[in-house]
Amino acid sequence: STAMAQQTSRFAFEQLAPQTDGAVHVPQGYSWKTLVRWGDALFSDAPEFDPVQGVPTEGSDRVFGENTDGMELFNVGGREILVINSEYTNNDINLPSEQDGLPTSAGDVLRLQNLQGVSVIEIAEGEDGWSVVVDSPFNRRITHNTPMMIDGPAAGHDLLKTQADPTGTQSLGTFNNCGSGRTPWGTYLTCEENFNGYFGSTAGLPEDATLAAGYKRYGINESGFNYNYHQFDARFDVSQNPNEPHRAGYIVEIDPTDPTSTPVKRTALGRFKHENAATVLAPDGRVVVYMGDDERGEFMYKWLSRDVYVPGGDTSTLLSEGQLYVAKFNDDLTGEWVALTPASTGMEPAEIAIFTRTAASAVGATTMDRPEWIAVNPTAVEAYCCLTNNSRRGATNDDGSIRSNAGGDPMTVNAPNSRATNDYGQILRWRPHGDNHAATTFEWDLYVMAGNPTVHAEGPYAGTRNINEGNLFNSPDGMVIDSTGLIWIQTDGDDSNEGDFAGMGNNQMLAGDPVTGEIRRFLTGPKGSEVTGLCWSSDRRTMFVGIQHPDAPFPDGDGSLPRSAIVAVKRDDNALVG
Ligand code: FEO
Ligand code: CA
Ligand code: CA
Ligand code: CA
Repeated sequence: STAMAQQTSRFAFEQLAPQTDGAVHVPQGYSWKTLVRWGDALFSDAPEFDPVQGVPTEGSDRVFGENTDGMELFNVGGREILVINSEYTNNDINLPSEQDGLPTSAGDVLRLQNLQGVSVIEIAEGEDGWSVVVDSPFNRRITHNTPMMIDGPAAGHDLLKTQADPTGTQSLGTFNNCGSGRTPWGTYLTCEENFNGYFGSTAGLPEDATLAAGYKRYGINESGFNYNYHQFDARFDVSQNPNEPHRAGYIVEIDPTDPTSTPVKRTALGRFKHENAATVLAPDGRVVVYMGDDERGEFMYKWLSRDVYVPGGDTSTLLSEGQLYVAKFNDDLTGEWVALTPASTGMEPAEIAIFTRTAASAVGATTMDRPEWIAVNPTAVEAYCCLTNNSRRGATNDDGSIRSNAGGDPMTVNAPNSRATNDYGQILRWRPHGDNHAATTFEWDLYVMAGNPTVHAEGPYAGTRNINEGNLFNSPDGMVIDSTGLIWIQTDGDDSNEGDFAGMGNNQMLAGDPVTGEIRRFLTGPKGSEVTGLCWSSDRRTMFVGIQHPDAPFPDGDGSLPRSAIVAVKRDDNALVG
């Protein structure tokens, strides 16, 4: 039929079969090449990558960071500038093997701090494909020690003052940079996610009730995630610097055109485990930023600027003055953005900016199944959020009560998060009322519930109708909607290929049609990896895809260390991709 023909023509590729090996695969008619790997030189004075030891400490801020995640491409005066997050480090391959992944010196700590954060790199396409322009004046590394400004309601508050910065308006470093965003005025947004893991204590936790409650809600404890920074860098020892964690967990704005610019932490957009920042303009020109807080039972947020964006005009207030909202979903497929104000929360503006989760709990926000990337459809007034999974949804404590998030909000099964023990994940979609992203009410539905109809013949774990034996996946995470309206879905899930996950293969990237719901697998990552981060060259003939934490000797082959990398995917006929 005509409808079928249209449906088929929406995808310019045949579905790729699931894969389980250590390579990247793309459909017939496409090919891929490595653009840049962990440890590759951004400057000619960078140290050589050691095939056994990885990156030496000296010069570790002159190379591409590890564990690539969100990224955006900016065309600056005809030059292609790629800005990329490095979310975390695999400490077992960055440290000598006998240390079991535990830093044992200030040098170890500095190396790890340098290999995370953000890389700004100029790239260019030549005869052999894309490569980094080494020594480009745009090239820059932003690390856990790069000076930043703190802006917005939390700036200067007592809870942000430290020994190093008694003003509470400057800080060092950006942490656990997960997803990304871009503003209409050409800046990059990096999103601080699991920042809590870098802090620890050499002498107990603070007893002050406000501090203790905040630590509990954000997961700050004495040991952190074994980065051991607190043993060698007092800034991360909360017994000496109890306010340092309040200076992380924000959206950070970076100007990719000026390597001397100071990144700005935009506290007005809230402090939580930020996944990404999906920006769109409302019809009147106000700036909307959708954001997810990726932890079990945490919330979805929206920022709305007070002022309108004027091309070439003053943009300094657009991420500082405005209103932060949190999402409440009703079972009747409607929903509401609830404003976080002193009246609605009983908190001061600075407290709302610092303890945003607490403010959201106070207004009864809906607990979600780990909100990962949000994407706005440029071809329709709608947005999508990957709710990656939530193994504890609907679970009970020993006393029979429903398990809650760290704020005590129960993770009861609800309409948008409708499955107990949700190991597959779903993608939620909403359409704001009046075709206006500034509206405070919306209609919602589920674009897809991932599942496995080959294991669960029927019922919710089979997934929705657009899941079939051919396109199985779990744990949607990264998501970008291209300029034609195709939804690119990246996964970070169980790649055992067994049991409930049989037939899914390695983590992958699929494309979805927002209208028909059809979903097709496009790319598979190496064993153990997560596919995360996606953008296009300005001519849209190349797609850049991030491969994070491979557990295979990728991309250098047998006997080499596994290296996170960005790959460039092209059509063999050099036509547009997507
Ligand atoms: Fe860093 Fe929620 O992914
Ligand atoms: Ca993610
Ligand atoms: Ca994830
Ligand atoms: Ca991940």
